[in-house]
Amino acid sequence: MQSVIQFSHQLLADTLKPGDLAIDATCGNGHDTLKLAQFVGEKGKVYAFDIQEQAIENTRSLVSNANMKQVEIIHDGHQHIEQYLDQQPIAGAIFNLGYLPKADHSITTLPKTTISAVDTILSVLKQNGRVVLVIYHGHPGGADERDQLLSYCQQLDQKNYQVLQYQFINQRNHPPFILAIEKTSTSAS
Ligand SMILES: C[S@@+](CC[C@H](N)C(=O)[O-])C[C@H]1O[C@@H](n2cnc3c(N)ncnc32)[C@H](O)[C@@H]1O
Repeated sequence: MQSVIQFSHQLLADTLKPGDLAIDATCGNGHDTLKLAQFVGEKGKVYAFDIQEQAIENTRSLVSNANMKQVEIIHDGHQHIEQYLDQQPIAGAIFNLGYLPKADHSITTLPKTTISAVDTILSVLKQNGRVVLVIYHGHPGGADERDQLLSYCQQLDQKNYQVLQYQFINQRNHPPFILAIEKTSTSAS
């Protein structure tokens, strides 16, 4: 079985095509950004968001070493994503939630801003596009974010979206899990 991180990438590899627009909503050290850049290719585009200078620097260095010119790194909160979008629909997005490893653990994603960004992305997501949420719920505030995201996903209309939960249930210490949302119909708002 694939690990949570491997499967989060697989879900996006299966839906992203060369030339697509993809979003890394929390670029951190840039590992997900690099994967998205590979999936959309040099004719595609990746917008990579983070609120921390350290994350922006780490992502910039990883992406430039890999010579991925299709990545635009944005030092801003993902809740402001609407300001950066043009006409092109989003084909896929990833939110790797929680805090930046080896940095200040008190700077974390928050339920209100995460849900606001997911909601905006869903409204402009292509048919068959996917939003992948990797949920870390062991840190203070993590359980609240997990519960609010589960409630948010459970109320999405099944006529327009299907939502998958991928989780190992016998691991210790609050292992991360995935909620993956696929837009099955563009009649969704
Ligand atoms: C678990 S890390 C991301 C790991 C990253 N995807 C990687 O591959 O290395 C979570 C990141 O979310 C960022 N973050 C927190 N709130 C944010 C927000 N409102 N908008 C964008 N990024 C945010 C943190 O600064 C942190 O770098």
